[in-house]
Amino acid sequence: IKIAVLISGGGTNLQSLIDAVEEGSIKGSIALVISDRKGAFGLTRAENHGIQAMLLDKKTYGGIEERDAALLQILQEQKIDLIVLAGYLAIVPQRIIAKYENRMINIHPSLIPSFCGSGYYGEKVHQEALNRGVKVTGATVHFVNEETDGGPIILQETVTIDFDDDLKDIQTKVLEIEHKILPQAVRLFAEGRLKVIGNRVKIL
Ligand code: GRF
Repeated sequence: IKIAVLISGGGTNLQSLIDAVEEGSIKGSIALVISDRKGAFGLTRAENHGIQAMLLDKKTYGGIEERDAALLQILQEQKIDLIVLAGYLAIVPQRIIAKYENRMINIHPSLIPSFCGSGYYGEKVHQEALNRGVKVTGATVHFVNEETDGGPIILQETVTIDFDDDLKDIQTKVLEIEHKILPQAVRLFAEGRLKVIGNRVKIL
């Protein structure tokens, strides 16, 4: 399968996918990395591995609508089979979500439905977990649907929070899990082992 990875930042999740593909554990290739932010280090990671890296920011394309139109066109032209949102902070428009139903996945740094929804991204997720005093948090990979962080859950894995953990400690523990379950989910997708039944996912 042909994979497109959408990023906005450092791209450590992208890196975990690049490594998995290069190890041969994913039956597919990353055809394209797209960032909505100039200077996202994830673009450099792609270039370092000979992967086409594109900056699709609203400034260059003259607005969000135009940018999203270009995004959809590129995804279709390149016959992308799976879109992975790996720290992509722009809103994916409904018309793209609709075209990629159960073919677009997202990694979120909490156990959905906790600490998710609009406004919950990056460090805020971990800050809220810290404030609430949860003893367990983790990461979730899910299919993207019209509801932010609301799509069918593919994989989740937990980490424990110790009383003395600070935000960075939690972020580090969760990121390690993200780098494990995102490639795992992409591998399962590539092997055709993810079956969506209602709002749940059965792993065949
Ligand atoms: C990760 O915490 C991920 O869960 C969230 O955004 C962050 C992306 O980190 N969606 P990176 O750019 O993959 O390092």
